Amino acid sequence: MARHLITSAIPYINGIKHLGNLVGSQLPADLYARYLRGRGNEVLFLCATDEHGTPAELAAAKAGKPVAEYCAEMHAVQSEIADGFRLSFDHFGRSSSDQNHRLTQHFAARLADADLIREVSETQMYSKADGRFLPDRYIEGTCPNCGFDSARGDQCDNCTKQLDPVDLINPHSTISGSTDLEMRETKHLYLRQSQMKDQLEEWIDTREGWPVLTTSIAKKWLNDGDGLQDRGITRDLDWGIPVKRGESDWPGMEGKVFYVWFDAPIEYIACAQEWVDAGKGADWERWWRTDKGADDVTYTQFMGKDNVPFHTLSFPATILGSGEPWKLVDYIKSFNYLNYDGGQFSTSRGRGVFMDQALEILPADYWRWWLLSHVPETSDSEFTWESFQSGVNKDLADVLGNFVSRVTKFCRSKFGEVVPEGGTTAAEDRNSTDASAHWLFHELQERLEAYENHMDQIEIRKAANELRAMWVAGNEYLQKAAPWSTFKTDPEAAAAQIRFALNLIPFYAVLSAPFIPDAAARMLVDMKADDCAWPATVDEALTQLKAGHAFTVPDVLFAKITDEQREDWQQRFAGKRD
Ligand code: MF3
Ligand code: ZN
Repeated sequence: MARHLITSAIPYINGIKHLGNLVGSQLPADLYARYLRGRGNEVLFLCATDEHGTPAELAAAKAGKPVAEYCAEMHAVQSEIADGFRLSFDHFGRSSSDQNHRLTQHFAARLADADLIREVSETQMYSKADGRFLPDRYIEGTCPNCGFDSARGDQCDNCTKQLDPVDLINPHSTISGSTDLEMRETKHLYLRQSQMKDQLEEWIDTREGWPVLTTSIAKKWLNDGDGLQDRGITRDLDWGIPVKRGESDWPGMEGKVFYVWFDAPIEYIACAQEWVDAGKGADWERWWRTDKGADDVTYTQFMGKDNVPFHTLSFPATILGSGEPWKLVDYIKSFNYLNYDGGQFSTSRGRGVFMDQALEILPADYWRWWLLSHVPETSDSEFTWESFQSGVNKDLADVLGNFVSRVTKFCRSKFGEVVPEGGTTAAEDRNSTDASAHWLFHELQERLEAYENHMDQIEIRKAANELRAMWVAGNEYLQKAAPWSTFKTDPEAAAAQIRFALNLIPFYAVLSAPFIPDAAARMLVDMKADDCAWPATVDEALTQLKAGHAFTVPDVLFAKITDEQREDWQQRFAGKRD
C-alpha cells in the first residue's frame, strides 16, 4: 500500500471563499485524495485556515470582534462549509494553533543557527495616534501614479501600481484615520534566501515530471534581476506568531510577529500534529520526517498559480535551511483562474458565487461535477450559468441519472427489484451472444485504463471526459441492446441484458465517487453494494451483482436545472453580495 500526503493551499480566514478559490486547490485536492483512497492507498489529506496577517486583523475589526474570536468563528464556518462540499480532509487545522506557534519558532531558531537569518533596520510608517506601525493595508492615501484617493500602502486598486507606504500622498491610518504619521526606525528579520539559491536551483532542476508552469515560475524568481532576494519574515503586528528563537526571546524583536507567509506553509506540518493531538492519527512524523519513514511518502501539493513561488522557493528554503530531514514536496499541481460571467470572482467586491450560497441552492455534487469538469487546468476558465445548467442537465441528469433510472425501473416492472436470472452476460462469458455488450465491454476496458492514467497524472479534465464517456456508453448500450424489445421475444436474453446493465451502476458509483461522492454513495446503498471496491478488471466488476441480489430503485439522482431557476440565480448573483 503506497502512502500519499496531500495538502491544499490553506484558505485565508477572512470570509467565506468563492467557487474560484474552491476549484483552485481544495476541490481538486479532494478529488485526488478520494481517488487514491479508492484505489487502496494510505492517504493523509490536510488543509487548514490561514489566520494571520493584516487581512485577518482588518476583517475582525470590521466585524467588531477581537481577532482571536473572529478567527475561531470563521474557522468553524469554513469547516462546516468544507463538510458541505464533502471535502474529505483528515484534519482541517488552524495556522494559529499552538502546534504551529511552536514549530514556526523552531524553524526560525534552526534558520538562525544556520546563519540564514539577518537583522535589518529599516524605517516604516508609524502612527502616533494608534501607537503602532502601519504595514501594508493599514495605510491609505492618494496614489502618486493615478491620483486615486484610497490607494493602499502596498498597492493602488485603481491602477494596480505596486506601492510603498512612503509613496502615498496625504497618507492616513485606516484604523483611526489619523494623519499624524512619521517614519520610524524598526528592526526586522530577513531570511537569507540569496545564500540558498544554488541549493534551491539544484533541487528544482532535479524534480522529475514537474509541469512547465510550475518550474518556469520558480526559475523566473531564481534568476530575475539580481537573483533570489532575501525576504522579510517579520512584521510589526499584534496578531500572529510572536517572534521567538525556539522557546527563547529574540532580543530586539519584542512585540513583533512572523510574517503570515512564513508561518502558513509550516502549518502543513503543524496540521499533521494537530491531527494526532485531536486523536485522529497515531504518528505524524512518519508522514513528515524522512528519518522516521516519510521517505516512502509521495507528497503532492495543490494551489493556485499565484501561490507557486511560495511553494517552490520560500517554503523549501525554510525546510532545506533548517538542515533537518523534513519531507519536501514531490509534485506541485497548480491552477489558473476561474472567472465569473465575463469578469473576475472577487471577495473584496463580493462578485460571484460564494461557497455557502452555492450550497443553499444546490447539493455539493452538482457543483463538484461542473467545477471539476471545467477546472482551469491549462488556461483560465469561466463560470456562466448557461454552462453550469447544461453541464448538470446533460451529464448528470440526462446521462448518468437517466441510465440508473431507466435500468432499475425497467427491471422492477418486468422482474421486480432483484437482479434477474437467465442467459449469460458478456462479463460472465466472453462467448455470449450479446454483440452490443461486447462493444460496451471493450469500450469500458479502454476508457477505464485511460481514466486511471489521467487520475494518476492529475489530469482532471481528461479524467472527467473519460468518466463521462463511460456513462454515455452505458446509455448507448441500452439503446443498442433495447431490452424492452428483447423482452417481447426472449425474456431470458433480456434478463441477461438487464443483469449486465444493473452491474454498471455500482461500477459507475465507485469510479464516480471522487467527483460526486453523495450520488455515488446513494447508488451503492440502493444497489445494496456498499462493499464494492475499485474495479480490478472490468469482468470482475461487472459480475458483482449476481442473479437474485435484491436492490431498491433509487430516487431521482439529479434534478434538472430549469431555465427559470437559471435566470433567477443569474439575477440574484449579478450584483454584490449583501
Ligand atoms: N492563504 C493563501 C492564499 O489563499 C495560501 C497559503 S498556502 C500556504 O493564497 F502554503 F501558505 F499555506
Ligand atoms: Zn493608482
